[in-house]
Amino acid sequence: MQTLLVTGGCGFIGLSFIRYILEETGFQGKIVNVDKLTYAANPMSLADIEAAFPDRYTFEKADITDSRAMADILDRHQVDTVCHFAAESHVDRSISGPAEFIQTNIVGTFSLLELVRERQGAVGRFHHVSTDEVYGSLGPEGLFTEQTPYRPNSPYSASKASSDHLVRAYHKTYGLPVTLTNCSNNYGPYQFPEKLIPLMILNALEGKPLPVYGDGQQVRDWLYVRDHCMAIWEVLQNGREGRMYNVGGRNEMANLDVVNLICEQLDRCAPPLASGEPRSSLVTFVKDRPGHDRRYAIDCTRIQEELGWEPTESFESGLQKTIQWYLENPQWVDQVRSGEYQAWMRSHYG
Ligand code: NAD
Ligand code: DAU
Repeated sequence: MQTLLVTGGCGFIGLSFIRYILEETGFQGKIVNVDKLTYAANPMSLADIEAAFPDRYTFEKADITDSRAMADILDRHQVDTVCHFAAESHVDRSISGPAEFIQTNIVGTFSLLELVRERQGAVGRFHHVSTDEVYGSLGPEGLFTEQTPYRPNSPYSASKASSDHLVRAYHKTYGLPVTLTNCSNNYGPYQFPEKLIPLMILNALEGKPLPVYGDGQQVRDWLYVRDHCMAIWEVLQNGREGRMYNVGGRNEMANLDVVNLICEQLDRCAPPLASGEPRSSLVTFVKDRPGHDRRYAIDCTRIQEELGWEPTESFESGLQKTIQWYLENPQWVDQVRSGEYQAWMRSHYG
């Protein structure tokens, strides 16, 4: 691997992945980061990386659905490996406006696959970053395995499922050298504060209501973002062509318990609320998400047995690091919360 193209590298997981590779793995090649810079992107999050690795890190602003621009980038940089993160990623936004999800997640992935097909041989690996949400919802028992049938329930998860199918089909039909990872909920530094954990951290710090959907008993499996990056890096290097790998934290928690844990940790390490009340008093039950999946849980035996990957961070320590990061980076928070963020908060939460 000489030149790795990362799509969506200015978003939460993409930028964490670029940081992980350049700072921790000893990778000596080049990284080209392509991002359209949607509301979810913050290129400033990589300003230090750009300064530290001027010869090995390049940013290109482009839309993955723009085949001509993407072809030029692939050829100009002589890309030999693609790691595809770019997507519209927020379930609630897919419910209020699905069109962008179809365009980027399905059409965008299709366009990339076509470009790689035209360059077979030159591009030796296409890795597709996907989600456990493609499997739908579990009851109280059981785990998603790589054999679980796809039953996506939101426009977001349906668009990701479609893109997974295209990736798999391009392997079967055209022999494209693909791999896929389907991961559970990530959390950590740099996550856009529309997602549960950063939204609750910031609202709880500021004494604002903590909007819990429905009864708050929906279960998610939380994974620290660096562990996800390690899994992707492992699959990119050693994963079997055409194979998908489930990735999860073995850390199932009900949403309400996550929110209460955030409140407890903040009560210990941040100044008290003006009211003197514990932060859990801010919990406010609001209207449920339409089609809300009840439970996700991942069986990650395959990646563990075949590639030796294991999650390394406990939820308590990962959450503590995450909270600390948001406390220490108010400027980043101000930047990403300006403009479009205010409009989303007003339209979604009233
Ligand atoms: P994010 O929303 O934080 O970032 C997405 C990035 O993609 C942004 O920088 C955005 O500007 C870019 N982008 C969007 N449309 C684009 C386009 N048309 N062309 C080029 N760039 C575009 O998302 P994330 O949470 O970092 O997720 C990254 C990937 O991981 C997604 O594919 C998502 O489905 C998958 N995933 C996320 C999670 C999670 O918990 N966040 C879990 C499993 C899988
Ligand atoms: O499972 C992987 C998926 O995890 C990724 O594919 C998605 O890109 C990512 O956004 C995430 O999807 P979720 O819908 O699970 O994450 P979100 O943070 O939006 O919500 C987590 C849970 O918390 C979910 O059950 C909805 C609930 N929730 C969320 C918000 C934003 C609330 O109760 N209140 C809220 O305000």
